[in-house]
Amino acid sequence: MSAPRIAIVGATGAVGHEFLRVLAEREFSMGSIKLLASPRSAGQKLTFRGEQHVVQALADDSFGDVDVVFFSAGGEISRKFAPKAVDAGAVVIDNSSAFRMQHDVPLVVPEVNRAALAGHQGIIANPNCSTIILVLALQPLHQAVGLRSVVVSTYQAASGAGQRAMDELHRATRAVLAGEQPPKPDALAQSLAFNLFPHVDVFMPDGFTREEDKMLFEVQKILALPELKVDATCVRVPVARCHSESVQVHLQRELSVADAQQLFAATPGLELLDDPANARYPMPIEYAGRDEVAVGRVRRGRVFEPGLTFWLVGDQLKKGAALNAVQIAEAL
Ligand SMILES: NC(=O)c1ccc[n+]([C@@H]2O[C@H](COP(=O)([O-])OP(=O)(O)OC[C@H]3O[C@@H](n4cnc5c(N)ncnc54)[C@H](OP(=O)(O)O)[C@@H]3O)[C@@H](O)[C@H]2O)c1
Repeated sequence: MSAPRIAIVGATGAVGHEFLRVLAEREFSMGSIKLLASPRSAGQKLTFRGEQHVVQALADDSFGDVDVVFFSAGGEISRKFAPKAVDAGAVVIDNSSAFRMQHDVPLVVPEVNRAALAGHQGIIANPNCSTIILVLALQPLHQAVGLRSVVVSTYQAASGAGQRAMDELHRATRAVLAGEQPPKPDALAQSLAFNLFPHVDVFMPDGFTREEDKMLFEVQKILALPELKVDATCVRVPVARCHSESVQVHLQRELSVADAQQLFAATPGLELLDDPANARYPMPIEYAGRDEVAVGRVRRGRVFEPGLTFWLVGDQLKKGAALNAVQIAEAL
């Protein structure tokens, strides 16, 4: 096959910009690139590999001349336009949650379940960013000793809610530092300056949020463990970039800390940084812009037996979104 012609829907957004960086960084071989966004951005120019490209308004007929479309403009846009792209003959890799739980749509983290790509019908879903970070660490434990259940708390960066949320955090922080009242939040549920809140996506009738549900159902689907229990609490924190996760796993069989560390270190996509004596553990500031998800603070659990407790950090715009999607395209 000749080099695919690429389109990015949502090219002007936080994930869209990351797509451009990742495609350039990986020297992704392509015939052409088409940048699509809302009519608000039509005519805007974005630089890719040193050349300027004009952003076009997304339309029904945007897909006749492309082979692979990366969607990152929210679920509503994906639901409306991804089927049109498939009808036009393109393969869709979708960053939204629109199709993730559909049976005929593979939900893929290439290091974990690349084989699921084989059955695709034109749409492949990129998992939720917190899910991608978590499954990279769960998969080796599942393969080695089996999982019984998982308890996870996330510390999610502002940019996880998009460019407007990032801008809002900056504005609110500047206001507080200037001794002023922060502006009323708009992109985020609460003001995030010098604050955090346990509210990512909407609340469901049972008290969990939709983000917490995504972590449960998507982990079950990716690991092909429909009975696995995942109890998540998702928290937004005033960090620019990189999600962190505190994880407790209840294992089927005993696994020593040293063996778990060795497993993590040998897992593609994971990096072990676990040297507490020298205050070395993963932090967002060190993993922003990095491909690898970092794992540290690995220790024997005190609640679950046998169990492990550990800490994860991963760039949710990169491995949690654009990089994972580009790796799917590479795998195809
Ligand atoms: N941020 C993350 O860390 C992250 C991680 C994983 C997955 N995701 C998912 O990726 C998607 C994009 O997230 P984001 O953070 O990049 O959001 P964002 O910064 O708010 O960007 C949204 C993008 O969608 C475009 N868009 C909005 N309305 C549109 C319309 N009617 N037609 C065409 N394009 C339209 C915007 O174009 P304009 O600039 O013209 O408005 C912009 O390019 C979401 O589904 C999100 O859940 C995000």
